Amino acid sequence: MDANNQPIERMGIGIVGCGNISEIYCKNVKTFEHLNLVACADLDEARATARAAQFDIAARSVAALLASDDIELVVNLTIPDAHAKVSRAILKAGKHVYSEKPLATTRKDAAKILKRAKKKNLRVGGAPDTFLGGAWQTIRKLLDDGAIGTPVAATAFMLGHGPEKWHPNPDFFYQPGAGPLFDMGPYYLTALINFFGSVKRVASLARASFPERYTPDKRAIPVNTPTHIAGSLEFANGALATLVTSFDVWHTQLPRIEIYGSEGSILAPDPNWFGGEIFIRSENDAEWRSVPIEFPYTTNLRGLGVADMARGIRANTPHRASGEMTYHVVDVMRALLKSAEEGKQVRLKSECARPALLNETFALNQP
Ligand SMILES: NC(=O)c1ccc[n+]([C@@H]2O[C@H](COP(=O)([O-])OP(=O)(O)OC[C@H]3O[C@@H](n4cnc5c(N)ncnc54)[C@H](O)[C@@H]3O)[C@@H](O)[C@H]2O)c1
Repeated sequence: MDANNQPIERMGIGIVGCGNISEIYCKNVKTFEHLNLVACADLDEARATARAAQFDIAARSVAALLASDDIELVVNLTIPDAHAKVSRAILKAGKHVYSEKPLATTRKDAAKILKRAKKKNLRVGGAPDTFLGGAWQTIRKLLDDGAIGTPVAATAFMLGHGPEKWHPNPDFFYQPGAGPLFDMGPYYLTALINFFGSVKRVASLARASFPERYTPDKRAIPVNTPTHIAGSLEFANGALATLVTSFDVWHTQLPRIEIYGSEGSILAPDPNWFGGEIFIRSENDAEWRSVPIEFPYTTNLRGLGVADMARGIRANTPHRASGEMTYHVVDVMRALLKSAEEGKQVRLKSECARPALLNETFALNQP
């Protein structure tokens, strides 16, 4: 249903990239009544065939999927290094594109995607869409309603010891364009941008603490990108944030995200997920209070951003997980690395609008 409670005209969806994350996308895209998952494709044909059989959709070659008349929007679930090339090909074929994060690994490539979309009058959207989840929308409303007064600052910590112990193919995580900042930073940055608006300037320090990482079978992975990045950010509303992303930390007790206001604090859950517990504590509260989630979508609904994008296209209104915001996130991450490399603050050239509150729900298919 749209904002006027009218059914939304269905949109044909294709998926390129049938790896790990494609399963949950297929499941969720099929959940929304106004999305019609038509086909999937992968360089590895067997992966596409298996995913297609699992979800009762067509397996096509990438070229055939891009040439399909029954598909208007393509979801790009390839590896980060391939995002830019695949997204540009999708736009060239005249389809809207929704990309997994990051939009691209360089500013230049990310900018080319937005430029091509503008020229062809097509839309770009991208992950993460967890900020559309019930927990994040509830916090956004609390902040907008002044529940902790004027936002002053935030802290955000993504601290772990990297994926090489569990991921089947972890090498790319330690190469330029990945690392903890490009891999997990988009969740944290998007959450903060949703609260505070664009980032104006950043400063950071970074290191690669270990020259090699080891898989469980003792295979060495060379490390060619910073693996501990300690950043400071100033937002459009004046709030300051500390963002530390690390693959060099074994244990921590730090919260994922806390937000500090002139009249209290909010403890937020993990921005990798749509739900989670929220706590608030005002100036004179003796204890933290649990806050009930007031918005829908609290389970792993990766693809909610695609549903909102299709709605926006049909209604000719902005979609929330926008190309401008995913570009800004790439710009901020690049700026953090540049600041560390050059030992100086970096001012951001890009900005994006704060996405509107998700104050509508989508009709779901009956099971
Ligand atoms: N796996 C997760 O838990 C997870 C969670 C959130 C986001 N993501 C993001 O989703 C994206 C995909 O991650 P994944 O874990 O599914 O990776 P994956 O390696 O399991 O799958 C990627 C797939 O893309 C295919 N591919 C690569 N280049 C291609 C090209 N040019 N054309 C067509 N197909 C191509 C590969 O053959 C592979 O099947 C990444 O950007 C990742 O950051 C992953």
